[in-house]
Amino acid sequence: MTVEIIGTGRAIPLRRVTNEELAGKIDTSDGWIRSHTGIGSRHIADDDTAASDLGAAAALEALKLAVERGAAAEKTAAELALTVDLIVVGSTTQDFFGHPATACIVQHKLGAVNAAAMDITQACSGFIYGIETAAALLKTDPRRRRALVIGTEVLSRIVNWEDRRNCVLFGDGAGAVLLEKTGEDSAEAPVSSGPGPAHTGRRGLLRTVLGADGSGWEYLMIRRGGSRNPWKKGEIVDTVPAIEMNGHAVYNFAVKVITETIEKMLKEERISAADLDLIVPHQANARIVQAAAKRLKIPEEKFYLNIEEYANTSSASIPIALDELNRSGGLRRGSLVMTVGFGAGLTYGGNLIRW
Ligand code: ACO
Repeated sequence: MTVEIIGTGRAIPLRRVTNEELAGKIDTSDGWIRSHTGIGSRHIADDDTAASDLGAAAALEALKLAVERGAAAEKTAAELALTVDLIVVGSTTQDFFGHPATACIVQHKLGAVNAAAMDITQACSGFIYGIETAAALLKTDPRRRRALVIGTEVLSRIVNWEDRRNCVLFGDGAGAVLLEKTGEDSAEAPVSSGPGPAHTGRRGLLRTVLGADGSGWEYLMIRRGGSRNPWKKGEIVDTVPAIEMNGHAVYNFAVKVITETIEKMLKEERISAADLDLIVPHQANARIVQAAAKRLKIPEEKFYLNIEEYANTSSASIPIALDELNRSGGLRRGSLVMTVGFGAGLTYGGNLIRW
């Protein structure tokens, strides 16, 4: 049984904010941002746009592409949406605090009335966790065949725009993939263990690594608003709930877990980096990727980076990159691609996929 990606999509807000524009508002410069992060611009959603709007738009593009490319028998995206059994949304900027799940709103927008819907709040690791969750849920029930996995963020809403250490890093956007289960049930090993399906040329999701180090929960967080620190009646609130980050601690964690996750997947799969066509990392900071590449002695060109255009879009960064590659021919049938990322929690992981 395999779980393959049969459609990809993305939704990027039109408004593009360059480093120069930011430098006109806060004490920063294009030179500092580029040299410390590789970021040149970010896209910012308008005031009326929430995570479900971008997420549904990206998912619709994924459905349309699957129809266009003849990957499904259905003739329209709306018909295909009716065949989706599960919607998993990774987001750290859900439409509403606590509930309802943003995935339910996406389900409604798409008319995907037959789909179960759930959110995953692993921040930047949300898409990697989401792919594995969706694939596992497709595999455990013969009635489930198709799932949408979406990463969608409006991070501009939870950024303190006066904090230059932080606000220059983030952007808004969404990416989505449509997964389809093919083949029969079998007694094969679960995707996360056992040696090397990459050797067989088998397509789809071949392997996933997931991990967390909860001791670092405080390094990347939104402190106010939950049951630990609720807003209190009568309290005068003069700031938005905003991302707080220990940049150095997150940087060190990121380089370590990206390096270890890539090594682990290559080792378990008994392949080398040369066997991979591409590595698609979470786009948080180009320097993190460069440091991991150096440690692993993998050429930087093997890593796909689009952070210059979009900045860090958290759970959306990997599916946005996958969609760009899928549409541009950077990923073709048979390409072997590895995703790898990290995020609040602290969490990390990676997926190995034969396109
Ligand atoms: N413009 C100009 N100067 C700046 C800016 C800015 N935007 N930001 C910081 N500086 C200054 C600082 O004030 C400091 O000046 P000082 O020495 O006079 O105090 C100097 O630049 C160096 O600051 P550092 O914080 O040491 O810069 P560093 O090189 O470590 O880069 C960064 C900071 C980019 C945040 C880095 O630590 C990093 O990328 N960390 C990981 C971030 C990350 O990946 N987060 C994931 C979030 S995703 C999620 O799950 C939501």
